[in-house]
Amino acid sequence: MKRVAILTGGGDCPGLNAAIRAIAKPFILEDKTEVIGIADGFEGLIKRRVRRLSYDDVSNILALGGTILGTSNKADPFRWKVGGRELDCSDEVVRYLKELGVDVLFCIGGDGTLSIANRLLKKFPRIIAIPKTIDNDLAATEQTFGFDTACNFVMEAIDRLHSTAQSHHRAMVVEVMGRYAGWIALQGGMAGGGDIILIPELPFEMEIVLEAVRRRARKGKKFSIVVVAEGARPRGGGLIIKKKVEDSPDPIRLGGVGNFISEEIEKNVGCESRVIVLGHLQRGGAPTFFDRILATRYGIEAVRLARAKDYGRMVALKGGKITSVPIGLAVSRLKLVPKKHPLIMGGMEIGVSFGVESIT
Ligand code: F6P
Repeated sequence: MKRVAILTGGGDCPGLNAAIRAIAKPFILEDKTEVIGIADGFEGLIKRRVRRLSYDDVSNILALGGTILGTSNKADPFRWKVGGRELDCSDEVVRYLKELGVDVLFCIGGDGTLSIANRLLKKFPRIIAIPKTIDNDLAATEQTFGFDTACNFVMEAIDRLHSTAQSHHRAMVVEVMGRYAGWIALQGGMAGGGDIILIPELPFEMEIVLEAVRRRARKGKKFSIVVVAEGARPRGGGLIIKKKVEDSPDPIRLGGVGNFISEEIEKNVGCESRVIVLGHLQRGGAPTFFDRILATRYGIEAVRLARAKDYGRMVALKGGKITSVPIGLAVSRLKLVPKKHPLIMGGMEIGVSFGVESIT
């Protein structure tokens, strides 16, 4: 291989630089293959913004959050928005890749980026995908990197909130990210000892949430921590949308359900309540031990696939082992929390409320 290219697309997350490093270093050190960094995901391929990555560029970035390449969650070459019109510039993107002499394109991304990569395969088959997202909602892999760091942050935030909640006898409603999946709320919430955990997969009954707060008060626990996923919604109700980013492939930005729940608690339970929206803090900072290792293992496997000319695949984690699957498998559906997930069933046994009477 003479030249390979790397792009990071979609929302950033901790571990992206660890993956870039693990892909770039073997090529630079062993194969003498040139590595090109594409700026801002697919936007860089559309606007022709790339640069050669040297050893120094990819050295000492393992612990760095974000992505040295930049990213965009708006650029889709098949639906590129210019002056109110939508253009398909995928052919130009492929032409540019050929002009650059790119032998293999590594796409590090979540659902949106890898869906584009999957479509692009028909025109440029030499693509290898690496799954990232704090949401952990990609099918065909047990875990994406970024998720562990986000959950650790949620856990730490809840730990800190306990003392102030207890001192003021308040309900603290912690709204976390995750889009349409409840993985961050479930895992981060359980690790932090959340009393009530609300996820999109289990639409909640407001009365059950309120009763859980009251029941704790009757037992002498005059504070409650409610962890709510941004995509959680009351049974029969709709998603609470913060805003629409019209030029984004998925324009919906969720947010606001925490306020709704907090107001309901103040109105109906009579205790004070505060909302804490953890937002983009969940995506920032250095990757955890787990995410560094996972991103590195993914990068190493991606290079192995490229050397074996095994294209069109996404590296994945299965039963603790690194493997790979066709990219199409990863983007065919979102990986949601199963209703009877062991952590939900076990959580109920230890008194955590999931805002539902029972799970059928
Ligand atoms: O997909 C990652 C994510 O952080 C989601 O959890 C969240 O809903 C969304 O991205 C936020 O997007 P933006 O960075 O555009 O606000």
